[in-house]
Amino acid sequence: MCPDKVMRPDKEQWSVPNQEQVGREWQSGVWQRISSLYHDEWDERFAPVVDVVIRRAGLVAGEGVLDLGSGTGSVAMQAAGLVGPTGRVVGVDLSKEMVEVARGRVAEGGPDNLTFQQGSGEGIPASDQSFDVVLSSLTLMYVIDRTAAAREIARVLRPGGRLVAAVWGRPDECDIVRFQQAAGQFGETPPVPGVGPGALADPSSFIEQLDDAGINAKVETESIDFEFADFQSAWHAMAGVTISQLSSERRQEAHVSSWN
Ligand SMILES: C[S@@+](CC[C@H](N)C(=O)[O-])C[C@H]1O[C@@H](n2cnc3c(N)ncnc32)[C@H](O)[C@@H]1O
Repeated sequence: MCPDKVMRPDKEQWSVPNQEQVGREWQSGVWQRISSLYHDEWDERFAPVVDVVIRRAGLVAGEGVLDLGSGTGSVAMQAAGLVGPTGRVVGVDLSKEMVEVARGRVAEGGPDNLTFQQGSGEGIPASDQSFDVVLSSLTLMYVIDRTAAAREIARVLRPGGRLVAAVWGRPDECDIVRFQQAAGQFGETPPVPGVGPGALADPSSFIEQLDDAGINAKVETESIDFEFADFQSAWHAMAGVTISQLSSERRQEAHVSSWN
């Protein structure tokens, strides 16, 4: 988890009234561009994070699970196996393309207690108290209005339900954040403040937001090693979300600068 200041996306920060919508479209575009790459390359690399989320959730047969920011569906697929045919899993993701990739995986023989739909953490498309467990792997740091997301998670959880989420750490502890921050210096300033891989490195503000919403959360840290054959492949994988937004020229500059 990284020492980036968590900026509360309070309404006063938005200079233009529809800035939140602009931000959400920008965020969705980021994930749209990398949805296939994510499936082909990062699903496997991030599997240890998914495994930690699943292990900590302690899912049992028959439970109803929401996977918020379901991406290509890795968490939801494992969850569906664990809750079995008497349970159900719903994956919700902001990006239509991510939802399509996840649905494609299910169509290729995935479990039939699993569905995916497009939606945002700030307005979860589900009724009140409809899940036993909410999982969110590597997503909450990208949510623009985390106060709303905290409220929404609390709303869809049944009383006594569980939330398990994973976020990245500080850049000095977490190379993926360091790489993306380095790459980010070569791109445009994002139209929204306070979102990005390291945005919940200090999760205290979000813990308060969860607390205000009625969720008593605690933070635990685990270290996970990633192995790469060389710097080139590490850079490609770990700076990927950010470099996908750069022109090829700026991408090259960012790479050279990080290599030196
Ligand atoms: C790093 S990916 C993680 C995907 C998956 N949970 C995993 O661990 O492999 C982050 C995902 O969060 C989604 N996302 C970003 N902001 C979101 C929001 N406000 N509501 C729902 N999903 C969001 C993105 O579209 C993307 O699929």
